[in-house]
Amino acid sequence: MPILIDQSKRVIVQGITGREGQARTRLMLDYGTNVVAGVTPGKGGQSVLDLPVFNTVHDAVAATGPIDISVLFIPAGQIKTAALEAISAGVKLLVLVADRVPVWDAMEIAKAAKAAGASFLGPNTLGAASPGHGLIGMIGGRAESAREWFKPPLPGGTGVGVISRSGGMGTSTAYYVGQAGVRISGIVHVGGDAVLGLRIPDVARLYQDDPATDAIVVFGEIGGSQEEELADLITSGVITKPVVAYIGGKAARAGTRFSHAGAIIEGNRGTHAGKVAALRAAGATVVDSFGDVPAAVAQLLRSRSSRSLMTDAERRAVWTTAITRIEPNKVAVRGRDIASLMGNASFGAAVYLILTGKLPDDATGKLMDAILVSSIDHGATPPSCLAARTVASTGAPLSQSVAAGIMSINRHHGGAIEDCARYLRRLTDTARAAKGDLASALDAAADQEIARIKSTGDRISGFGHRIHTKDPRTARLFELAQQAGLRGEPGSHIAAARAIERAVARIGCPLPINVDGAIGAILADMGLDPRVFNGIFMIARTPGLVAHVVEEQTREKPMRRIDPVNHAYDGPAG
Ligand SMILES: CC(C)(COP(=O)(O)OP(=O)(O)OC[C@H]1O[C@@H](n2cnc3c(N)ncnc32)[C@H](O)[C@@H]1OP(=O)(O)O)[C@@H](O)C(=O)NCCC(=O)NCCS
Repeated sequence: MPILIDQSKRVIVQGITGREGQARTRLMLDYGTNVVAGVTPGKGGQSVLDLPVFNTVHDAVAATGPIDISVLFIPAGQIKTAALEAISAGVKLLVLVADRVPVWDAMEIAKAAKAAGASFLGPNTLGAASPGHGLIGMIGGRAESAREWFKPPLPGGTGVGVISRSGGMGTSTAYYVGQAGVRISGIVHVGGDAVLGLRIPDVARLYQDDPATDAIVVFGEIGGSQEEELADLITSGVITKPVVAYIGGKAARAGTRFSHAGAIIEGNRGTHAGKVAALRAAGATVVDSFGDVPAAVAQLLRSRSSRSLMTDAERRAVWTTAITRIEPNKVAVRGRDIASLMGNASFGAAVYLILTGKLPDDATGKLMDAILVSSIDHGATPPSCLAARTVASTGAPLSQSVAAGIMSINRHHGGAIEDCARYLRRLTDTARAAKGDLASALDAAADQEIARIKSTGDRISGFGHRIHTKDPRTARLFELAQQAGLRGEPGSHIAAARAIERAVARIGCPLPINVDGAIGAILADMGLDPRVFNGIFMIARTPGLVAHVVEEQTREKPMRRIDPVNHAYDGPAG
């Protein structure tokens, strides 16, 4: 697990409606950071980049669940209030981007964070990045650049962790070290101010405990004692991973502020010579010129035969994929040897693996199998089947005929799975915002929703069916979901679906959840990204389409007029 930020972390952005807040949130989302909401006082109820905006962090927590990290794109004058609010709402890591934050405010934030067991980066920080996993703040610019510049460790492999007191130079350090063929496990800009949250020694400890970090690279500066404290940690054996460092500000004279507020030499404290001597005495490699950093890191890693170094082919790569690795005589899907998956992982488990990067436990794999089986075919009337058969009847080959069927899977065919999941999420968010007991709030929200639908005549995706009043697949899916640990606790999508069913029953017009709705609720509770739900339907339906196309080609006359309704089943009874 990378340090500070990974995809399991739920992130909010305070100041999301502001200029930088909006621009940087888009970049964080593009990079894959799990940003779940934003906060700007007075702008609750709006949405930015499809994310809900709340008036307070407490509201965001109540509506969306506990938050791990808040990134604050809030000017210095308002930062203290906003940071204290996030800490009191239980947020455990804050990223304070603003510069010129008053020292007293930073000290108050530090005190509150310490009391709450929280920590913060900055103030005056670009934030942190865990290549391949997420970024918080403004490191790396566009997501494509960040992906190209900072190649992450392979699954089970290692990289180099960068710590910097300068934002720009931290990014440059990671970039140039990456250009030398080194994988990057993390980049952390601790901030340029005199009073900071996480400092170099703190971040070094995190890298020390991070199995994906093989060595630490530090861009230090004159002033303060962070580098000397790091040297102490190396000497005392707390940091045992190799450290390569460069200390900026060699030419600065005593009393001169060098670049950042924290980079000032007072008397003999924090001098360039003192820092270099301390680190060298502790055993770190300290280079005299910034340009020597990449070669020093690569040489160190080579001497340790480190897995942080890339092969030439990996270095030449101009884009990366994290799905399947191909080497001579070896294929690994999401880091799992394909030969070991074969015969051990079911198809459902492999679909889950390729979509999420994680191999599911047996019950979840079985549930995924059941979801795929449940949608394998639904007779000759659905648009995908009619499209595939119609195209097949023109003499088109299998691939084109099946593709025609797949192309008809859209918003209104198969799309109910995703629509229903998003709808249930909104219902739960409404119930959370109403506060009080979640189960009762959910029933109340469902009653309101049904009243609204009755008056508007809207349809709810995932409920009711043209043919089935009791869809045979739904009960079985919920039974398997239960076995996989998805018990429909309050707050889950399954609980929201049940609340809608109850609300409809209360007005005496049963509208049971159908198979699409059940799949949507279950996939969402399994933690899958709603953007893949339509794809899961396509994966499930493809065998059915192949069977229909081949039957059309072998049984029927070309160019026949296909009656969408009047056809009969003549297969085995069952
Ligand atoms: C933090 C910073 C980036 C914000 O700049 P900005 O995005 O241009 O500022 P904006 O005024 O557009 O946006 C700030 C938003 O925070 C909101 N805000 C204010 N107090 C808030 C609070 N307590 N909670 C949540 N949001 C709050 C504001 O309402 C505003 O949103 P709005 O425009 O929708 O009203 C800027 O002040 C700054 O410090 N820049 C330098 C950063 C830097 O260089 N850091 C060091 C890197 S090395």
